[in-house]
Amino acid sequence: MNKEWLNEIEQAIKSLELPVLPETLYEPFRYTMAMGGKRIRPYLTLLSCGMVSGNHSLALPSALSVEILHNFTLVHDDIMDEADTRRGIACVHKKWDSNIAILSGDVMYAYAFKQLLSYRESSNLEKEQFAELLQTFVDSTIKVCDGQALDMEFMERSDVSVEDYFEMIEGKTGALLAGALAMGAIVGGRSDLKERMTRLGNLMGVAFQIQDDLLDIIAEPEDFGKKKAGDIREGKKTYLWLRTFMECTVKERNHMLEVYNENELTDEQVHTIISMMEKYGIIEETSELIDNKYRQIYDIIGEFEESIYRTELSRLIDYLRSRIK
Ligand code: IPE
Ligand code: IPE
Ligand code: MG
Ligand code: MG
Ligand code: MG
Repeated sequence: MNKEWLNEIEQAIKSLELPVLPETLYEPFRYTMAMGGKRIRPYLTLLSCGMVSGNHSLALPSALSVEILHNFTLVHDDIMDEADTRRGIACVHKKWDSNIAILSGDVMYAYAFKQLLSYRESSNLEKEQFAELLQTFVDSTIKVCDGQALDMEFMERSDVSVEDYFEMIEGKTGALLAGALAMGAIVGGRSDLKERMTRLGNLMGVAFQIQDDLLDIIAEPEDFGKKKAGDIREGKKTYLWLRTFMECTVKERNHMLEVYNENELTDEQVHTIISMMEKYGIIEETSELIDNKYRQIYDIIGEFEESIYRTELSRLIDYLRSRIK
């Protein structure tokens, strides 16, 4: 990723003027924004603006707004998923408690909007562009919530299909990547390219989330920053889980459901599920699917005009493909 542009994002995050008090509201906010993270979404907003020949610095408030929104969803997601660690350290609801995590998440959401309001005084953005920007941001947020709701509902359902899964991840992960890219195009004055950006973002979200599901199983927790096999422990219907469930014998299927319905899994139970994923070749199949999605992503990138921003986007995709965290 381009250091200079990443630095612009980090500076923008650092210069967020957050109140000190109430401490239980703003300290978790600061903690979350400072605990690292790859900054993919704000980076995409800058790239997108540059790719449509806009001045990428003009997209900084949008980029910041997207990153704050993303961090807010993580704070609440960790409560929903009963996660202990994020980015290698304690989640907000563990370091403090769930009430604090809920409320600081809420204020983060408001701060995400606040960044966009800064365009009101900008002479570079027409009223219509501003409205479109807000609309895109709101629509993406709603889609993320839709996806998160499906993610939770699927935990109680035994008839989830792979198609259902794709719909769910396009929401919970694709929508924000798509929004990040679309917002960059809007600020860059090329709303006509919004659709293409959205298509690209949705596809990236799908590839990224399937990879996240895979890394949950194969990555080292020290790299990945989350507990090993957290999805299996929490009873998530990931791509790997669903595909294994489809391929295995009736006896194994019953075993998967039995294990699935337990509250606390032993390491041995987790290991049995992972062994089944290996036995049916689901790990390789998933890697191939991810690669296939990334190939489609390069194709869409090729539809854009040549620029340094486009080159950096291809580099970002190379980086995401090989990511271990
Ligand atoms: C985590 O997103 C949530 C998912 C959609 C899987 P990232 O992996 O982009 O999280 P950070 O911001 O880099 O920690
Ligand atoms: C997160 O999906 C998606 C959102 C936060 C909207 P996951 O629950 O798979 O993300 P991780 O694994 O906790 O980062
Ligand atoms: Mg989740
Ligand atoms: Mg989670
Ligand atoms: Mg995950």
